[in-house]
Amino acid sequence: MAQTPVKVTVTGAAGQIGYALLFRIASGQLLGADVPVKLSLLEIPQAVKAAAGTAMELDDCAFPLLSGIEVTDDANKAFDGTSVALLVGARPRTAGMERGDLLQANGGIFGPQGKAINDNAADDIRVLVVGNPANTNALIAQQHAPDVPAERFTAMTRLDHNRALSQLAAKLQVPVSEVRKMTIWGNHSATQYPDLFHAEVGGKIAAEQVDDAWLRDTFIPTVAKRGAAIIEARGASSAASAANAAIDHVYDWVNGTEWTSAAIPSDGSYGVPEGLISSFPVASRDGKWEIIQGLEIDAFSRERIDASVRELEEERAAVRELGLI
Ligand code: NAD
Ligand code: LMR
Repeated sequence: MAQTPVKVTVTGAAGQIGYALLFRIASGQLLGADVPVKLSLLEIPQAVKAAAGTAMELDDCAFPLLSGIEVTDDANKAFDGTSVALLVGARPRTAGMERGDLLQANGGIFGPQGKAINDNAADDIRVLVVGNPANTNALIAQQHAPDVPAERFTAMTRLDHNRALSQLAAKLQVPVSEVRKMTIWGNHSATQYPDLFHAEVGGKIAAEQVDDAWLRDTFIPTVAKRGAAIIEARGASSAASAANAAIDHVYDWVNGTEWTSAAIPSDGSYGVPEGLISSFPVASRDGKWEIIQGLEIDAFSRERIDASVRELEEERAAVRELGLI
């Protein structure tokens, strides 16, 4: 018997990441080449028409795995029976907006979407938040979904992970596939810490194959500020690479991996306060993320992990103060 299609919901579907993401999901790259999917495109009312245009294009691709598409501005409908929610739509920071205003505006999006997931999604729901500030938006959504297991809410640092792989591979002039055990710690922001003390190239620790100054003054800031560099170069934030990372994150979550980076709720590992949605080295087994344990953290790494985690704690305190969680 043919497999029942899996419902995948994409918010912000008419945006630039949405446009780079939807066709890849429909072609089978999100869940697997033998898994049929149904797509739900959630947008704000003003953008529903544009999302419907993208749905027309999806139809025109005649993807064998795509069993249906709905376009809606109703979150309850969009998340009804959904198994994978990609929360991409967010309120960008605009001129004159303070940090609190940004958190407030996003709380108004991610709180109700978390509740709609809580009330309508399938029991196996998995949520990936891409919209910035991704870690704290994921926390807001999670806190509005008390009936969904907390660990089903994750935020994307896979783009940072992939950026780190590429930068290191270019420096050592090896194929990306030779880099193993890369880790991004902390927040998807400029405070993130890409860690070369556990990454390996050719079976040897990466940090020992580059000079300290390059690691500290070039590698870390290049990875951490890459999002801003793309905005500066393209005049718009990363889109295809962000969509690619979202595909990688969900594919590995569902199908398993031995080592990658993802922002998941902390269980207190590595001194990260419990409950914060922070990036860790993770494996995925039996469809669940697990934090890779037992890594030694030296003083250089400790200081940088702590700084990024501190920023996450400040964001959590700010959204608590605003009554958003
Ligand atoms: P975009 O502005 O092109 O698209 C965003 C879309 O979201 C718009 O179509 C908008 O109408 C929609 N939207 C806004 N509020 C919504 C709501 N309540 N419900 C449904 N849809 C809503 O932006 P983009 O380039 O696609 O980026 C989306 C987000 O992803 C941004 O917050 C961006 O900063 C973030 N981002 C994150 C990463 C990451 O690595 N985590 C990387 C790149 C971009
Ligand atoms: C990125 O890392 O490319 C984005 O998060 C940048 C941004 O601010 O949208």
